[in-house]
Amino acid sequence: MESTSTNNQSGRTYADFRVLYLVLQLIGCTLLILMLCWVFVYLGGLSWSSQPRIQFNWHPLLMTLGMVYLYGNSILVYRGLRYARKRSLKISHASIFGTIMLLAIIAAWAVYDSHVLVDPPIPNLYSLHSWIGLIAIILFICQWICGFFSFLYPIIPPQQREQFMPYHVYFGLAGFGASTAAALLGLCEKTIFKLGGEYSQLPSEAVMVNMIGVLILTFAALVLYLATNRHFRRIPLPEDTILLTGHDE
Ligand code: HEM
Repeated sequence: MESTSTNNQSGRTYADFRVLYLVLQLIGCTLLILMLCWVFVYLGGLSWSSQPRIQFNWHPLLMTLGMVYLYGNSILVYRGLRYARKRSLKISHASIFGTIMLLAIIAAWAVYDSHVLVDPPIPNLYSLHSWIGLIAIILFICQWICGFFSFLYPIIPPQQREQFMPYHVYFGLAGFGASTAAALLGLCEKTIFKLGGEYSQLPSEAVMVNMIGVLILTFAALVLYLATNRHFRRIPLPEDTILLTGHDE
């Protein structure tokens, strides 16, 4: 009797999770579509180093795709795809991280070129946005390296792996928070550079940028809620107990 009510309870909890996860994906996709519209309708589209000012546009586009949308999704991969084998989830988690790293490198390259290839050149790493952005990228890289060698191809004993897990979770969430803050600061900075005094007249471009900002914040808040609510934890599957190595993954 008690176990039936526990099962019902956990079924309801998972249904709540699925609704919120769906809302999260809708917010994330809307965010990416609006970012594409901003880039193509207002910022002049995309190009590479022959037009450094336009090359810049890869930066917000790829950073939002990688360091916000995919980062949030990689954090939630264990809860979102809870019925998959743990080993597959670990590989997905690490692969999404690898993709984000690649996107972040291209995005950083685009903004660097857009600073040094223009005449006169623009100094690098002077703004609060660039400092917070750099912190987010460094945290992200450290996380990826430590996570890779602790959980995917472990070089440390299981007991230390277990002790390291809370730090991995904490720094993952902190890095995601820093990345969201950087995205919001970057949006604000670029809009002020571009619109100047016109920003306060709230033209259509400003409305669009403000909406992107609100969606980034909502997306991040929902990721943090879904990732930290203990009722939404993935319950280990019997198959997670490894057949080949004979120990629990
Ligand atoms: C989400 C994660 C983001 C990260 C980690 C990030 C990181 C960075 C870094 C490290 C720089 C310095 C590059 C240099 O000085 O050569 C930079 C520059 C810049 N970023 Fe971002 N960025 C992000 C998102 C955005 C977004 C969404 C925008 C919106 C347009 C943006 C706008 C800018 C601008 C205007 C610059 C050049 C001016 C400056 O250095 O502050 N960034 N970003």
